[in-house]
Amino acid sequence: MIKNGLIIFISGNGSNLNAILQSPIAHFVQAVLSDNPNAPGLKIAQHYNKASHIINPDDCTTNKQWEDNIHDIINNYQPQLIALAGFMRILSHDFIAQQSAKIVNIHPSLLPLFPGLKTHQRAIDANVKKHGCTIHWVTTLVDDGPIIAQSSLDVLPNDTALSLKARVQKLEHCLYPKTLQTLLI
Ligand code: GRF
Repeated sequence: MIKNGLIIFISGNGSNLNAILQSPIAHFVQAVLSDNPNAPGLKIAQHYNKASHIINPDDCTTNKQWEDNIHDIINNYQPQLIALAGFMRILSHDFIAQQSAKIVNIHPSLLPLFPGLKTHQRAIDANVKKHGCTIHWVTTLVDDGPIIAQSSLDVLPNDTALSLKARVQKLEHCLYPKTLQTLLI
């Protein structure tokens, strides 16, 4: 088993996972971890023959137990990086502090604008001219932490949340693998 690679955390579709697994850094990916047993992204991991682990919080009595289970998995791999890619759970301060791997996240807005959910609709409602995505180090605050890279596009007059999401995701699929490549030693 390779060490010092990358573990990717997902909860949903896994289109960013797919982009990473189609990129030159695919061989760094040691495993995929999902909190959601029904995450479509798990099929992508399987397609690329990557180990996947489901750590379902519903199977745990406390959040600490859930995080301890995740920690045990990570310990087996000893990754240098953990990349959150549509992982919809908040990790505790203790969990983040406990990791020797650094944790990065991709967020669908130009942070510090629009942390949280429904970023594309909020960008339209705020009438911003530019929107995009951000890759940042994970800290204990949600969608916060030092920014590593951003990619932006023009918001078009007839954009909807859906059309904007589709275009921002194209940016994400380019930016995330490229940025992770610069972070992996
Ligand atoms: C992406 O838009 C990402 O920025 C956000 O969650 C979404 C995940 O999409 N954190 P996918 O599961 O990679 O398709």
